[in-house]
Amino acid sequence: MATTKKKEPVKVKSTVIKPYAIRDSQPSMAKEQLLLYGNAPDVAWDDASRYKKNGAKEKVLGAVYTPPRVASALTRWAVRSASETVLDPSCGEGVFLAAARTRLADLGARKPDVTGVDIDGPTAEQTGAVHSDFFAWAKSASPFDVILGNPPFIRSHLFPEESRQLAFGGLARLGLKAQRLMSTWAPFLAICSGMLNKGGRLAMVIPEELLVVGYAEELRRFLLSKYHRVIVCFPASNIFPEVQQGVVLLMCEKEGRGRRGLFTMTYENLEDGNYTSVKPANPWNWNDKWSHLFMAPKERDLINDLVPQLGWKPFSHYGRVSVGVVTGDNDFFVLKGDATKRFDERHLRPIVTSARDLKGISFSADDFNQVIQSDRPAYLLNITEPTSNLSQREQEYLKHGVDSKVSMRYKCRGRKPWYGVPSVWESHAIMLRQIGDMPKIVHMEKSCVATDTVHRVTWNDPTKGKQLSVGFMNTWTQLASEVMGRSYGGGVLELMPGEANELPMPKPSNRLDRIFNEVDALVRNKQAEVAVEKVDSVVLPASLSKQDREAMRSALDSLIERRRKKAS
Ligand SMILES: C[S@@+](CC[C@H](N)C(=O)[O-])C[C@H]1O[C@@H](n2cnc3c(N)ncnc32)[C@H](O)[C@@H]1O
Repeated sequence: MATTKKKEPVKVKSTVIKPYAIRDSQPSMAKEQLLLYGNAPDVAWDDASRYKKNGAKEKVLGAVYTPPRVASALTRWAVRSASETVLDPSCGEGVFLAAARTRLADLGARKPDVTGVDIDGPTAEQTGAVHSDFFAWAKSASPFDVILGNPPFIRSHLFPEESRQLAFGGLARLGLKAQRLMSTWAPFLAICSGMLNKGGRLAMVIPEELLVVGYAEELRRFLLSKYHRVIVCFPASNIFPEVQQGVVLLMCEKEGRGRRGLFTMTYENLEDGNYTSVKPANPWNWNDKWSHLFMAPKERDLINDLVPQLGWKPFSHYGRVSVGVVTGDNDFFVLKGDATKRFDERHLRPIVTSARDLKGISFSADDFNQVIQSDRPAYLLNITEPTSNLSQREQEYLKHGVDSKVSMRYKCRGRKPWYGVPSVWESHAIMLRQIGDMPKIVHMEKSCVATDTVHRVTWNDPTKGKQLSVGFMNTWTQLASEVMGRSYGGGVLELMPGEANELPMPKPSNRLDRIFNEVDALVRNKQAEVAVEKVDSVVLPASLSKQDREAMRSALDSLIERRRKKAS
């Protein structure tokens, strides 16, 4: 590994800094790699490649660096006069500090007033930043005119406890609820918003999660109340491909003229300094998330207008979506093949464990037999009796569970007895939870329980179950699923029960019964799009113009494509 050179701190006399020039001393570095990790004076290539390989520092410190051109574009938007004071609360290698000094100098500042903070000692030393946990430092810091940066994206389970408590204290001072699920960027964003002077501006790289996660709902409202304009800009290409983290560029200004609220801007316009190109993105009436921003403005407006016209009821009007069975250890409790033979039938319940076993929109006894024949997990071990009632071979299996410490697994050790899996019941239907292709509801002709890899659906009126399952496969409900759910790296859409229960559902009707078999066959044949068209022809109102149908379809296609791009 090449040795890391100790670099000079960034000089304050910013007119001599050329932070964005690609240095000749790193000929082996590909241009896009330089753009990814920046050419800030301290980034050594061996460090950058090390982060890429093991991701350790990346995960623990949230240390993923902003490309200089992105930092520069955000800084030019946010910093507007030479006298402004600027803060980067988690400055890392100093890419925003350098960009701010350059910008202030260009505006005529002799002594640019730029402050950086970082929790990492060597990093802070190299950039001349304050070495501190931002959440501790912020308690007594003065306000700033501009706050820039790329706060760390540290997931809740790695958020250091001491830091978390300080962050939560900061949120409470702003009247915001602390939530344990919060990743670090959320309190960074909220607390920085509380540290701005009147008329201040904030420009940050923030995970796309801001737009969709439930724990950020209050934060989204807070931002809209705190700022005159909140502008969301989607970067032209994925800035951080190695960490599979979709990000947005968030630009907020406390004061301004004209309309308030949520706006969008394209990345090209941001880089070109074409700031008058911002487009309003509200009103949006049917949920509190900002994931509607993933759609083009025209499609968003159309759909916003169409929703009340359709007048569909939410899923919760017709039934309920609940999580599947949590066994505590699927390898031990879900059995296949010969493993089932040692148990009496009364201890075995047919189970669905994966979306891949659900080929169509119905699940029959034949489908279940196929699962068994393919040697896939098919039975839940469901022992509800004391061990004294069990055969010798059954007792041996449980003893093996104790010896191999299954009984001590997190979900098992609190149960009495440890092998008594709770909440075992068969549902009317199953809804996919993690969706690679298209969301669907599968009508259960064969009675089965399900693990929590899928969701269980209970209908208020089970006689309408088939109609509701097939009706779900229409463009509008599919589109709503893309907007309501969240997608992670890998191109997978995840729908949680709370989100699924809010999805708009077409009214059940006998016409839907009549197309059930045809749609089931199309889905099994991997012709889901044709299936959706078929269902649309029954459930979408005849008054909906061909143009509007096509616009809806194209909005759905673009959301699916956007999600799938994350897989590549
Ligand atoms: C995503 S990097 C951003 C660096 C820089 N702003 C950029 O865009 O290139 C996050 C930085 O946050 C720092 N950090 C993590 N937790 C922190 C905390 N509680 N207070 C201050 N800095 C922190 C890490 O050391 C890391 O340098």
